[in-house]
Amino acid sequence: MKKVILDVDTGIDDALGILLATKSGQLDVTAITTVCGNVSLKQATLNTCKILDLLDRPDIPVYRGADAPLIRKGLHEHRIHGEDGIGGALSGVVPAISASEGFAPDIIIDTVMAHPGELTLVCTGPLTNLALALLKCPELTQYVNEVIFMGGVIYGCGNITPVAEYNMYADPEAARIVFHAGFGRLVQVGLDVTRKALLTTDHIARLTDPAIRSYVAESTAIYTKRYEERNGVKACALHDPLAVGVALNSRLVETSLMYVDVETSSRICDGQTVGDVQNRLNHSPNMNVCEQVESEAFLELFIQVLNKE
Ligand code: BDR
Ligand code: CA
Repeated sequence: MKKVILDVDTGIDDALGILLATKSGQLDVTAITTVCGNVSLKQATLNTCKILDLLDRPDIPVYRGADAPLIRKGLHEHRIHGEDGIGGALSGVVPAISASEGFAPDIIIDTVMAHPGELTLVCTGPLTNLALALLKCPELTQYVNEVIFMGGVIYGCGNITPVAEYNMYADPEAARIVFHAGFGRLVQVGLDVTRKALLTTDHIARLTDPAIRSYVAESTAIYTKRYEERNGVKACALHDPLAVGVALNSRLVETSLMYVDVETSSRICDGQTVGDVQNRLNHSPNMNVCEQVESEAFLELFIQVLNKE
């Protein structure tokens, strides 16, 4: 089984990514690390514990990470994810699971070093935890199997500014550290593909476990409404679950090796991921950019996994 750490800012779609990873039976989720993003670190951690409780997976440890971006103020997304970050679902639930002692960036370092060459990091929030791990241990890049991150957009428009995707915009300095760290395999799962992975109410109706179905329906309702207002499509974009999907089956996407940088000092373009599509900078590529996705196959996988006993 592929060993993974999920680094999350739980978040409606992060939560669905956790469901996909843990129920797949194909990923050994060694830890879940939390970060400030969609909601505060405290809320992201609580949400993660609630999801693991729903899944009855007290064996997966949860570790708190950065409570703010590297140098900027935290930017939460309550409008999209609701006050609590999971659309009001599981409100009032007091999870039996709580976070373990340990700081997420240290846990990332220790876990990677304990399993050299084996760990896949799936990052679905701002990249603050991974950047902090790299600042402390730059050689980490040599011991990680791969990093798959949800963030950025190369060809399309942004979702938080005209040009920036949320995870990149929330902590562009962290993204820059990760992009230039020298990972052997860094995979960008950006809006170019995640906007094509759309969960509709028809998909949700096919979920067979009543507890999972009602959780997914309730948690995605507000998100679906906002997505429709902005994009004219009544659906919930499975941004973060697609990053997990790529960890499960890399053939779900087509990628291009590319040099990508991220803007950190612009009046209106901060957080923009700029891909050197035509290799004008003559720079060696630093990541695999997802350009196409087998959306239907991914949605089928998502439903099939969530329907597992
Ligand atoms: C990303 O931003 C967050 O709001 C989502 O959880 C996802 O990780 C999409 O841009
Ligand atoms: Ca997220």
